[in-house]
Amino acid sequence: MVQPLNIFVLTGAGVSAESGLKTFRDSDGLWTHNDLAELATPEGFARNPARVREFYSARRKILEIAAPNKAHLALARLEKEMTALGGSVFLCTQNVDDLHEKAGHRRVVHMHGELTVTRCTMCSGRWTDRGPLTAAQVCPECGTVGTTRPHVVWFGEMPMFMDQIEQALEEADLFVAIGTSGSVYPAAGFVAEARALGIPTCEINVTRSDNTHAFDRRLYGPATEKVGQWVGEVLGD
Ligand code: OAD
Repeated sequence: MVQPLNIFVLTGAGVSAESGLKTFRDSDGLWTHNDLAELATPEGFARNPARVREFYSARRKILEIAAPNKAHLALARLEKEMTALGGSVFLCTQNVDDLHEKAGHRRVVHMHGELTVTRCTMCSGRWTDRGPLTAAQVCPECGTVGTTRPHVVWFGEMPMFMDQIEQALEEADLFVAIGTSGSVYPAAGFVAEARALGIPTCEINVTRSDNTHAFDRRLYGPATEKVGQWVGEVLGD
C-alpha cells in the first residue's frame, strides 16, 4: 500500500540538460562561457540592455524547440498519482524554462521566474512572450516603449514565492533535489531547512553537488534514468 506523502521537489538546470538546455556551471555551462555579471544582474542590464535582451531572446529560441524528457514526465506522473492518493507534490524549480509544464505538471513554482514572460520595468506589468525581447517593444499595460526585460530573477534580486516555499517545506514529509549544483542560495539552503525539520532528504544528480553532504540519500546518474526509478519506488511500482 503506497503512503500518501507531501513531497517537496526542488529542480535545477540538470533536469533539463537532456532536453538540450545548457546548465550554468558544467563545462559547457552558460556561466562557464558568459559573464553572469553582465547578463544576470540589474547592473549588467543597465550597462547594456541590448546585449542582455539578445542573450535571453536566444534562450527563448532554443526553448521553443526543446521537449520535456523522461525526468519531467516522471515528475508529472508523480504529481498526478500522489494527488490521487491524497498526498501532494510541491514542485519548486529554479529553472526558467517551461518543460515541467510541457510535461503536464500542473503546479510549478518558478522561484527564479520564467523565460517566456516579459516584464515592464516601468509598471511591472508582465505578459507571456515567446518572441525576441527588443527596445522597440511597447508595454501593453502602460504603453511605454523600450522598458522590457525578461521576467527572471537576477543576482541581487529577491527570488519569488518565498512564503509559499517556506510553508511547503514545513508541510513536507520528503525533500528531493534534482539536478542542481547547490551553489545558489536561498535554494541551496532548503536541504538544511528540511533536515532541521526532521524531513528525509534525497539528492538526484549526475555527480556530487556542492552540498551533497547535507543529504540523507544520494542517487547518482542522469536525471532521465534516476528520476523515473525514484518515482517508481515512491509509487510502489
Ligand atoms: P547549475 O548549472 O549550477 O548545476 C547544474 C547541476 O545539474 C549540476 O550539479 C550537474 O551535476 C547537474 N546535472 C547536469 N546534467 C545532469 C543530468 N543529465 N542529470 C542530472 N543532473 C545533471 O544549475 P542550477 O543548480 O540550476 O539562477 O543553478 C542554480 C541557479 O544558478 C539557476 O537557477 C540560475 C543560475 O544562475 C538564475 O538565473 C537566477
